Amino acid sequence: MNIKGIVLAGGTGSRLMPLTKVTNKHLLPVGRMPMIYHPIGKLTGAGIEEILVVTGTDHMGDMVNLLGSGKDFKCRFTYKVQDEAGGIAQALSLAENFCRGDPMAVILGDNIFEDSLKPYAAAFRAQKVGARILGKEVDDPERFGVAEVAGDRVLSIEEKPRKPKSRIAVTGIYFYDARVFEIIRTCQPSGRGELEITDVNNAYIRLREMKFDMMQGWWSDAGTFASLAHVNRLVADRPPKN
Ligand code: G1P
Repeated sequence: MNIKGIVLAGGTGSRLMPLTKVTNKHLLPVGRMPMIYHPIGKLTGAGIEEILVVTGTDHMGDMVNLLGSGKDFKCRFTYKVQDEAGGIAQALSLAENFCRGDPMAVILGDNIFEDSLKPYAAAFRAQKVGARILGKEVDDPERFGVAEVAGDRVLSIEEKPRKPKSRIAVTGIYFYDARVFEIIRTCQPSGRGELEITDVNNAYIRLREMKFDMMQGWWSDAGTFASLAHVNRLVADRPPKN
């Protein structure tokens, strides 16, 4: 099974202004590297060598200048422009030609985590079809997609619920088979006008083809000042494994 890699690195980074006034959030430092090196390292560490980077028009030039062809990372990069912020699922839909029927590992570019992706990618390879997501217990689940689980089964996911049914955040690391593109075509924009990845995940749950792992090590997003500072401390104290 040839798993393709996709890093979603779009968005305006409005919550990090003015740090993001002249650059993309994913180019800001996390530890000793630009943020986007972290998800790329996770993918290549799991043996995924064909990687699509999706970002907006504003900083695509800087992104390409930084990452190049991929030879310095022992992978091959493809780049796609997301013209407007239409949500994670809309950004993912741009990957259809790139994937050419192959399954994929998708990482939101501001999701930084300790665990190697290897065992999760191996579990996804073994399941052959469907989708797989990673959960992590957090203190502030209302900021995330929240999973209701029973054993190793996900019963439902709610996007940023006011009354979360659990403390398990759905992290921005997703594995899908190529049917994800058909599923995205059936999705409607949410209240915030975006195609939500949570709707895509719930479609796999309804098909009974969603598998789930809990992450062992630390995980955080890095999209706010508080989480960016927090992630920088975590990276220094317990360096991520690739
Ligand atoms: C997105 C997803 C959410 C997920 C989170 C992980 O939220 O919609 O389900 O838990 O990423 O970082 P957003 O960053 O768009 O608010």
